[in-house]
Amino acid sequence: MADLRISQLHKYYGTVHAVKGIDLEIPAGEFTVLVGQSGCGKSTLLRTIAGLEDADSGRIEIGGQPVTDLPPRDRDIAMVFQNYALYPYMTVYDNVAFGLKARKTPRDQIDGKIRKAAAMLGIEHLLERYPRQLSGGQLQRVAIGRAIVRSARLYLFDEPLSNLDAQLREEMRGEIKRLHHELGKTMIYVTHDQIEAMTMADRIVLLRDGRIEQQGSPLDLYERPATRYVAGFLGSPGMNFIEATLVAIGDGLAVRLTDGAQLALPTRRATALAAHRDRKLIVGIRPEHLSRAASDPRPGLARIDATIDLVQPTGARTYATFSLGGTAVVAELHAHDVSQPGERIPIDVNMNRAVLIDPTTDAVLSAS
Ligand SMILES: Nc1ncnc2c1ncn2[C@@H]1O[C@H](COP(=O)(O)OP(=O)(O)OP(=O)(O)O)[C@@H](O)[C@H]1O
Ligand SMILES: [Mg+2]
Repeated sequence: MADLRISQLHKYYGTVHAVKGIDLEIPAGEFTVLVGQSGCGKSTLLRTIAGLEDADSGRIEIGGQPVTDLPPRDRDIAMVFQNYALYPYMTVYDNVAFGLKARKTPRDQIDGKIRKAAAMLGIEHLLERYPRQLSGGQLQRVAIGRAIVRSARLYLFDEPLSNLDAQLREEMRGEIKRLHHELGKTMIYVTHDQIEAMTMADRIVLLRDGRIEQQGSPLDLYERPATRYVAGFLGSPGMNFIEATLVAIGDGLAVRLTDGAQLALPTRRATALAAHRDRKLIVGIRPEHLSRAASDPRPGLARIDATIDLVQPTGARTYATFSLGGTAVVAELHAHDVSQPGERIPIDVNMNRAVLIDPTTDAVLSAS
């Protein structure tokens, strides 16, 4: 059963239409990540679920119960705010206890709950301190502690890691995921960071301009994007997009780039795309699907010669930029596949995995 069901939800701020008819069902126990560019409506959707904003129309149900008209405190929701929202004049202990006391939790249970949450988050030694005596990462843990100490039906997180440095963010990503595993609660997590979305989500809901562009498991969206927008949003470095025409070669099909280079499609894909012959399209190729060619040609790999313009080592991998069909593309190569700009190397383009996009609608015609 869906733990959260949203239907045809709309929210306006004056003339700004921030949420445009969202339909969403989230099963009990799932970790859902709402991701999208700044201003696409993530916080508005989360705050409307929590009851901090009123919906203009539509319906929200939690655990089968309509909550659209209930005040926040009656929705059985715990929320972690981006700015922590801790009380500065209370100790960590009292901050965490606050929600429990407000909900009239029996005194003898409060202490046990706080100690358990503190142990889970590794903040036992901080309970007597005040917020001003804590680092950003510690504040973050306290804010999370204050939410999870309550037994709520639904836990909402609004960009909780955005104020942390890169290393701490990586650590906390793992911790929040582990926490979800231990608690088994339904959680909705907002971020604009696609890496956070990919690494943490059971399911990603990608928002664009107040609407859901696509939802599914992280690898679903990564490997089978429905639109050019989704294909370009996930992945770093991003997918390469190249203009092309679908042409016949022999019994099969190839994409012909603007410089005349032809990349043959594997038979299985050519059959599925036969109806699109002679049409213009955009070919989407992820950096990891451009590799330094090995000796034997393999099925589905189209070989080209590339003159490398830019070499960017990152350690295990090196990003190499070169021109393909008049477009600068990035290949994710092994560390020693290329050493300096100007080198000419053979590259295999994995046409099993290329995404073909209709340039007039931006819809993906065919993903791997
Ligand atoms: N209180 C408000 N009054 C007027 N417009 C608002 C208000 N809050 C948000 N908006 C507008 O609604 C749209 C969605 O905003 P929202 O805060 O939900 O975006 P977001 O996806 O959370 O962005 P970010 O990643 O920057 O936090 C934006 O166009 C924003 O300017
Ligand atoms: Mg926001």
